[in-house]
Amino acid sequence: MSQSIFEMRAVIKRYGVGVTRIEALHIVELDAAAGGVMVLAGPSGSGKSTLLHLIGGMDRANSGELYVAGNSLHSLSTAELTVFRRHKVGFVFQAFNLMPNLTALENVMLAAEFAGLSSKEAKHRASALLERVGLTKRADHRPGQLSGGEQQRVAIARALVNRPALVIADEPTGNLDSKTGAAIIELLTSLKGEQSVIIASHDERIAAAADRVIHLADGRIERDEVPGGAPQKASV
Ligand SMILES: Nc1ncnc2c1ncn2[C@@H]1O[C@H](COP(=O)(O)OP(=O)(O)OP(=O)(O)O)[C@@H](O)[C@H]1O
Ligand SMILES: [Mg+2]
Repeated sequence: MSQSIFEMRAVIKRYGVGVTRIEALHIVELDAAAGGVMVLAGPSGSGKSTLLHLIGGMDRANSGELYVAGNSLHSLSTAELTVFRRHKVGFVFQAFNLMPNLTALENVMLAAEFAGLSSKEAKHRASALLERVGLTKRADHRPGQLSGGEQQRVAIARALVNRPALVIADEPTGNLDSKTGAAIIELLTSLKGEQSVIIASHDERIAAAADRVIHLADGRIERDEVPGGAPQKASV
């Protein structure tokens, strides 16, 4: 059996207090094989970002067990969770979230320096990643001097700089035109094998490129699909 990048059991996430308290997510059981591309699909408010935030250690569940890249997230302290996030996960957001006053190279380097790399090693890795995403000639540009697609490629380079086991992308093509978005999808899906990739997206093309598509509805798994294969039984 292949190794899992994450496993979750009876995970519940609620927001708010008192009468406004809502159950945003309730996953009975979900495992993902390492090295694959998983897409989270579903309507707005169905829990996609909530699930990504839990898997990425950006937020905690109210109950349940969650294992990611060999770590039991439910039993980590806040400080341990920060270390986990920094070393094991690379994040890509819809809004790119680059530092506006740093160059492309410096944006990528900063994430490596935060994780404890020397600036020499950070620069070496950052340059290699900018080359990989086709931006060597833009390394000295600030985000405001880059197109949306170029900014997202910088963000992907930044997500990879600490060689994370897992890359998490939340609507990575949401702010891009369809051609630019297609290039970003290709880049993210090319990570397969080296990294495990989880992408929340409404974009049909991303689902087509995935190994597995989890459809969420009202915070629950509605359908668990292997494109091109037989549908799996949903855990509801
Ligand atoms: N910080 C929060 N406080 C209260 N409720 C929240 C919070 N974040 C999300 N929710 C609620 O949790 C539910 C799931 O939200 P989530 O952001 O995970 O949806 P989503 O599937 O990512 O939607 P979208 O496609 O619009 O990004 C929604 O009902 C939302 O209103
Ligand atoms: Mg969302």
